[in-house]
Amino acid sequence: MNMVKEKQKWLVVANWKMNPVSGKLAKQVFSSVKKVANKMRNVDTVVCPPYIYMENMKTSGHRFVLGAQDLFPVGEGSFTGNISYLQLKNLGVKYSLIGHSEKRNQGETNEAINEKVKAGLKGMITPIICIGEKERDESGEYLKFIKEQISSSLSGLPKTSIKDIVVAYEPVWAIGSTAKREPTTKEIFEVTIFIKKVLSDIYDTKSVPPTKILYGGSVDDKNVEIILKEGGVDGVLVGRASLDPKKFSEILKKVENIKR
Ligand code: PGA
Repeated sequence: MNMVKEKQKWLVVANWKMNPVSGKLAKQVFSSVKKVANKMRNVDTVVCPPYIYMENMKTSGHRFVLGAQDLFPVGEGSFTGNISYLQLKNLGVKYSLIGHSEKRNQGETNEAINEKVKAGLKGMITPIICIGEKERDESGEYLKFIKEQISSSLSGLPKTSIKDIVVAYEPVWAIGSTAKREPTTKEIFEVTIFIKKVLSDIYDTKSVPPTKILYGGSVDDKNVEIILKEGGVDGVLVGRASLDPKKFSEILKKVENIKR
């Protein structure tokens, strides 16, 4: 694969969460998005629907692929209610969100996230590791929190894997309908630089292709351009706006026209 080309493409990830309520609706959103996403030359699009809808969602090529919202780090066995990385791999899933704040809220630990990251890599599923502070503070404690999230999720990972993961910065205070506010692009940029620094402190990142960094939290068709132009990130993770095919298609079209 051509590394330079790969780096230049934007990455847009749709996180449908526990939506929509029927397979019929899911199919409608999926096919509208697929039409637009398949035409994008500068954007790789990943759609992460609930597991139950995946079997009916066919993708082809590299421009538009399926992602999961989570994975279970054991291949098969007696683990009621879980979906394994191997099952996802065999279904053709290429990415998986790992450690989303809504899963962390349900008790998921950095250690569990680390296991899932390793399992994802084993199954050739690119882990999108979600990190982000619950709130900001004047003294910069939130940066320590982010640093700890990154280093524990990557614990024991060889340097050669660093190009195969994606880090999504999602400040919890900026996510969902209860978001306090949107971060400024300066705030996003600072954390992007900080993430790169943490990665280069752990690994000698100069000698390896860069890890992609995404921003997520209240991204929509109105703010996506400025986030990508000024935030220093390689793409976005979109929640609510990804369920509205019109809005999401608009996001893709806008991203397609932003020069890197
Ligand atoms: P939002 O969600 O875009 O609805 O804020 C983002 C996410 O939780 O991944």
